[in-house]
Amino acid sequence: MNVSFFTSTRGYIEKKKEFDEAISKVLLSGMFIMGAEVKELEELVAQYTGAKYAVGVASGTDALLLSSDILGFKKGKEVITSPFTFFSSVSCIYKNGAKPVFVDVDEDTFNINTNLIEGKINENTIGILPVHLFSQMADMDQVISISEKYNLKVLEDAAESFGMCWKGNGKETRHSGTIGDMGIYSFFPTKTLGAYGDAGMIVTNNEELYKLAKAYRVHGATKKYHHDYVGYNSRLDTIQAAVLKVKMKYVDEAIHNREIVAGWYKDRLSDCSEIILPKIKGNQTPVYYVFNIRTQKRDELQKFLKDNGIQTTIYYPKPLHLQKCFEGLGYKKGDFPVAEKLCNEVLALPIYPEIREDEVAYVCNKIKEFYKAYFVRPSE
Ligand SMILES: Cc1ncc(COP(=O)(O)O)c(C=O)c1O
Repeated sequence: MNVSFFTSTRGYIEKKKEFDEAISKVLLSGMFIMGAEVKELEELVAQYTGAKYAVGVASGTDALLLSSDILGFKKGKEVITSPFTFFSSVSCIYKNGAKPVFVDVDEDTFNINTNLIEGKINENTIGILPVHLFSQMADMDQVISISEKYNLKVLEDAAESFGMCWKGNGKETRHSGTIGDMGIYSFFPTKTLGAYGDAGMIVTNNEELYKLAKAYRVHGATKKYHHDYVGYNSRLDTIQAAVLKVKMKYVDEAIHNREIVAGWYKDRLSDCSEIILPKIKGNQTPVYYVFNIRTQKRDELQKFLKDNGIQTTIYYPKPLHLQKCFEGLGYKKGDFPVAEKLCNEVLALPIYPEIREDEVAYVCNKIKEFYKAYFVRPSE
């Protein structure tokens, strides 16, 4: 059997008529830049997440870049974040001239260890950039209470966490991305809400920040050809907006199916003592965007699965403090031991709403077969 890590084809085929109609409507209109599709998608996302404002942009990376710029993450300023994340959570800080300041992550959640943040705050600190990775959010109670205490901006990298919610201590439930000053989503095809190309969105509850985001995505123009700022060209593609509008109708179903798949993995792998299953911490509602296990024999297991037709992925093989391009920040191996350890242990298993139970059973059986073979000595 072959099990792909991800495929968009099954979802497309299931609802082909709806996607084809949505795409051809755009093609027939001849309106490919912005327009009603983008506005309607923004309204749908704002309504779904409870954000006051949503601004579609070209990608999650651009959403981070524009937001960092708007929040003033610039030269002379420091922003505290995680070294165990996708590159653009940190490049957005660096690209605008600010200094990314890392703190290690929590071993159970893979997210920023919020107990370490205060120790890194100084007079140059302007913000905190928590990333909500894989299946759960960073501890937003702590992030917000620290940001209020020190008057810091919070930019939530919710690229992976569409649909995740934080219940908080005695507060109402809020969607990831809507708790800080600004939040961003990626609609990269593999994501919980995935387009058929690149797309992203900025959300905020602050009208001033919303107006800036709207201007920044169109070269800083507040009115066509009237540039109040030097912005970017970062518009959400109209065809992608049409695709995402269809996907929004089924996003709750997709999230539910992901939860079922995660349950299949947990049930079948709970007796496999060689691996650590994901643990959800804090008062929150997870979404299984990625199902990441941890194991000591990660590379050998990955090869064995590959030889048996199973695709897996490593998110992430190298922490950001050890990336060549960030050498100038002066970090070295050993600075963030938890992040470094996770890079050697994590393995993401195939998960998407349309994966079948027999495929998950095959993956789990092969994982168990690997450990049986690995730990049985030839003489036994
Ligand atoms: C944590 C995180 N941040 C940012 C991004 C960037 O999003 P995009 O690929 O849409 O640019 C991603 C997506 O891969 C991500 O996983």
